[in-house]
Amino acid sequence: MLELLRKRMVADLEAAGGRHDELDIYGGPAGDPGLAGGPGSLSWEIHGDLATLGIAGTATVLMELLHPSVMAGVHDHSSFWVDPERRARNTLGYVLRTTFGNTQAATRVIEHVKRIHSRVGGVRPDGVAYRALDPELIAWVHTSIPWGVMRAYERYARPLSSVEKDQYLREQAPIGRLGGADWVPETVSELDDYVERMRPKLAMNAQLLRFLDFIAGRSVELPAGRLERAYRWSAICAAMDLMPDWARKLTGTDQPAALRRFALGPAERWKARIVRWAQPELPCVRMARERATGSAARAA
Ligand code: HEM
Repeated sequence: MLELLRKRMVADLEAAGGRHDELDIYGGPAGDPGLAGGPGSLSWEIHGDLATLGIAGTATVLMELLHPSVMAGVHDHSSFWVDPERRARNTLGYVLRTTFGNTQAATRVIEHVKRIHSRVGGVRPDGVAYRALDPELIAWVHTSIPWGVMRAYERYARPLSSVEKDQYLREQAPIGRLGGADWVPETVSELDDYVERMRPKLAMNAQLLRFLDFIAGRSVELPAGRLERAYRWSAICAAMDLMPDWARKLTGTDQPAALRRFALGPAERWKARIVRWAQPELPCVRMARERATGSAARAA
């Protein structure tokens, strides 16, 4: 009975997030650690926890979109509005592939996404021109990912020492640079300074409001029922609870401290436990470990 329930949950998780078991990506040359440090790295430990990536996802996206140029790019060019689930799956796939994929496959996916980005550009509603491959924008989007993921891991998995956090940021930095950034923070103190420098450039605008309404199920295009809307909004607020006070206030996702502590946090903790119980290890993590430690990776 429990096994049936577990299988059902794995099927649901895979339907929403993808399988991530491609042999040509996660298998490959024996001994190849890939781009993010390989077995024993913080990136492998943290990104191997699907629950963490799931909870962090919404927070990282909202942090990225607080930059009006990134928001305009997604607003004007993204397939998100048509197929949000596929878009979210592909973003999760990017994080997993660049972390656990063999070096060649991980580099290939970064190059592929760069080609997509080279076609993204335009003018923001306030008249400022933007292009996705602007190194400053790439740096901001890149940084939002390990920043949010690190905070989710600390809250829902285990505390990280400052040495571990620095190591994780350092492992992730080459991926940001390969993606087109000139510079990305590699330590927590660089991250804190960088975020402070970026803050004046971040804003809540009509496009971000539209995006928030869309993911909260409050849009005309993809409306959700009342219960689903309440569930989504609590998940959005719980995700943003990972981020600083100012970011919650800016996005209108701030909730009273008691609600965050006694309702939103515990609900996410339960979700994390259930995900870990159902799928303690993603196929790509096992396949990558087998590849990197020298045994041939088996298909899932
Ligand atoms: C390191 C930084 C970035 C990462 C890791 C990243 C990740 C991705 C990924 C994985 C895709 C492919 C999605 C798919 O195949 O469906 C993609 C596409 C796209 N990205 Fe980025 N991105 C970054 C920066 C940016 C920036 C700065 C902008 C906007 C200014 C942007 C806007 C877009 C758009 C409009 C697409 C087109 C595909 C779609 O959304 O449907 N990205 N990005």
